[in-house]
Amino acid sequence: MSKWTKDSWKNFTIKHIPEYNDVKQLEKALKKLEGFPPLVFAGECRNLKQELAKASNGDGFLVQGGDCAESFKEFNANNIRDTFRVILQMSAVITAKLKVPVIKLGRIAGQFAKPRSSDRETVNGKTLNSYYGDSINGIEFSEEKREPNPARLLRAYSQSASTLNLLRSFAQGGFANLRKVNSWNMGFVKASEEGKRYEEIAGKINEYLDFMDAVGVNTSTVIDLNTVDFYTSHEGLHLPYEEALTRVDSLSNEIYCTSAHFIWIGDRTRFIDSAHVEYCSGISNPIGIKCGPSLDNQELIKIIDKINPTNDPGKISLIFRYGEESIDKYLPELVDVIVKHKKNVLWISDPMHGNTVKSSSGLKTRDFNSLLNETSKAIEILKSKERHLGGIHLEMTGQNVTECTGGIYKVGDDDLNSRYHTHCDPRLNANQALELSFNIAEKLKK
Ligand code: PEP
Ligand code: CO
Repeated sequence: MSKWTKDSWKNFTIKHIPEYNDVKQLEKALKKLEGFPPLVFAGECRNLKQELAKASNGDGFLVQGGDCAESFKEFNANNIRDTFRVILQMSAVITAKLKVPVIKLGRIAGQFAKPRSSDRETVNGKTLNSYYGDSINGIEFSEEKREPNPARLLRAYSQSASTLNLLRSFAQGGFANLRKVNSWNMGFVKASEEGKRYEEIAGKINEYLDFMDAVGVNTSTVIDLNTVDFYTSHEGLHLPYEEALTRVDSLSNEIYCTSAHFIWIGDRTRFIDSAHVEYCSGISNPIGIKCGPSLDNQELIKIIDKINPTNDPGKISLIFRYGEESIDKYLPELVDVIVKHKKNVLWISDPMHGNTVKSSSGLKTRDFNSLLNETSKAIEILKSKERHLGGIHLEMTGQNVTECTGGIYKVGDDDLNSRYHTHCDPRLNANQALELSFNIAEKLKK
């Protein structure tokens, strides 16, 4: 086997990485990125890995969520705050019900590059490149915008840096203080059914804190209520970008991808000879592997052996996304193979990507009940094999969008057009995300 280097992925099978016409410009942009500061720090990645290891032992639960694709257009402080806030709310609900810490992991500050089922798209007889995500080309259907443009990588880096800066302020600067648990319930969520259920939980949390204070445990000094750890993740798809942000940690001498704490390998680039698997096998970040119906379980064992030869807990998360109709067929076998080979993994349900359907209006959507059904089945299947669901992976936003149908507000096919803003796959709105959390936490508690 040849030695891993940050560019050894180039000797493997490359899929879903765009071809640039202007190679000189690309090299220039990558050179610049190489000189830019890291976005995350090695020590933070190690902490996250430890927390994931605990969750795989049942002492923790992961909430991973955010846009399918971040965009330059929807980049503003309110959107970032609202996504952050809903993740805090979901975490409070899950912790209150399950009595375990929740690991908060955004699909944010770097989730820009998308694998597409087709390279090209035809509209009214005209065929152009598909939209590959804002770090690569523009969503507008014109020759110029659909051309991969290296300058976009620099803009994606800059947006990621600003997003992370704000997230760090929210996480460390007082916004996430548990004493403010009520105030995370704002805007359109507050008046909703879930908002009211949430209010009850928030009230109880404050009562516990008051009680502790009353018996002489000063909660503001004894425990750190003021800050939370918030981590970032994205699909490590654009390997030239990831390579440019790959750095050696001066403390441990280990190599980290510093564009995010957690990197995952998508369903379309997960195979043993893949450039993406090669890249991820050399970095010390925790790694997610998407598992869909096309997965060959024996091949997965080889991939896990390559990425995690020492079988470190917390290193590998399996993010399965079979769809409510197919999960019964695939997940039990996958669990059996992992158990037989004694692999340490964290089991994460992505109920989004196997449940995408076309609505009557032609828009892509997902039905809330299908998501709930798939996750409920996941909980049961894992339990029947003496394993447990360790987290959920959601495409969601803090905004009041109408992209997924169902939920107690019964978003219907006809409503989709009213606030459909996603740049790629349909997301849960804040109410739906909260409702799903209540349901999953209750199901897990049983
Ligand atoms: C995604 O998470 O946006 C995605 C493309 O998922 P998958 O690789 O599972 O299809
Ligand atoms: Co998606």
